[in-house]
Amino acid sequence: MDIVVSGIRSTGKLHLGNYFGALKNFVKMQHENKCYFFIADYHSLTTHPTPDDLHGSVKQVLAEYIACGLDPEVATLYVQSDVPEIPELYLLLNMNAYLGELERCTSFKDKIRSNPNNVNAGLLTYPTLMAADIIIHKAHKVPVGKDQEQHLEMTRTFANRFNRLYNVDLFPEPAAYNFGEQLVKIPGLDGSGKMGKSEGNAIYLSDNPATIRKKVMRAVSDSGPTEPNQPKPEPIQNLFTIMNVVSSDETHQFYSDKYNDCEIRYGDMKKQLAEDIITFTEPIRERIEAILADNEYLKKVAKHGAEKARESASKTVKEVREIIGFRPF
Ligand code: TYM
Repeated sequence: MDIVVSGIRSTGKLHLGNYFGALKNFVKMQHENKCYFFIADYHSLTTHPTPDDLHGSVKQVLAEYIACGLDPEVATLYVQSDVPEIPELYLLLNMNAYLGELERCTSFKDKIRSNPNNVNAGLLTYPTLMAADIIIHKAHKVPVGKDQEQHLEMTRTFANRFNRLYNVDLFPEPAAYNFGEQLVKIPGLDGSGKMGKSEGNAIYLSDNPATIRKKVMRAVSDSGPTEPNQPKPEPIQNLFTIMNVVSSDETHQFYSDKYNDCEIRYGDMKKQLAEDIITFTEPIRERIEAILADNEYLKKVAKHGAEKARESASKTVKEVREIIGFRPF
């Protein structure tokens, strides 16, 4: 049986990119594998939430996981900061992580470019914390979106390096995973790039229908094709990519044909897209609200998850400590 680990930062509400990039695959995997899914609240500190935001975001994301179909009775569902073994392994891995490789990481370079006043050590060592999250359960598969590919590559480097340095076979090689083989990148509504919390281009699972309609109708498009069967410019391709995951094949095909015949009306396409997103998110949104209202239940889920996660994590850290050479007197 494969071990599956994944997580999402608690920097706000979940959007369609999180769902189709990571959560959907995880939910599909939970019955056939040993699954761990967590809320990466330590990772969220790299961008400095306020103490008022932190707990609320964790709670929101926990409720959203469950609303999306993650079953806390089946998968181990926990909050990263409830498992002190993770920062311990992170510290140990940092001893064999090198400045050069951490500085070359694309997400680090992006972050320091977009936020030059906050180049903290947590950002630099983000990949070692992520590696600790994954290898602490000796994971084989990690359902993530395309943007996490390089982090997974680094996780393999750190896992293999540990095995080699100490001449052991402790950690398997974890692979980024998607059922469709290709990792997914859900684009934003602003014409270019991926959907993201900080980009202001996202549709959230908890958005109400009016908000979704407004966001989709405002999405970047153009004046339409002038010749048949032309390749689609990026903003248009992006609308089709989102349509591909939320709408039926027939709907997607219908608008694709319209595009190819130069008969497309983007207003109609966007209206359809908005309704299809609403049909998809509405039941999730209702569940989020119901779950969020039940604090006792969330408390129970987090406690139970932390116990199960610590059971697995403490076993690995004990082995790691022995291998490194920590000995009791
Ligand atoms: P985060 O919080 O940025 O995103 C969580 C998950 O959502 C995916 N995702 C997307 N997938 C497709 N299209 C998009 N537009 C899109 N936006 C986000 C991400 O690929 C990710 O799978 N470093 C991670 C959190 C993390 C983690 C881990 C993940 C910490 N430790 C261990 C897996 C295993 C992150 O920043 O995700």
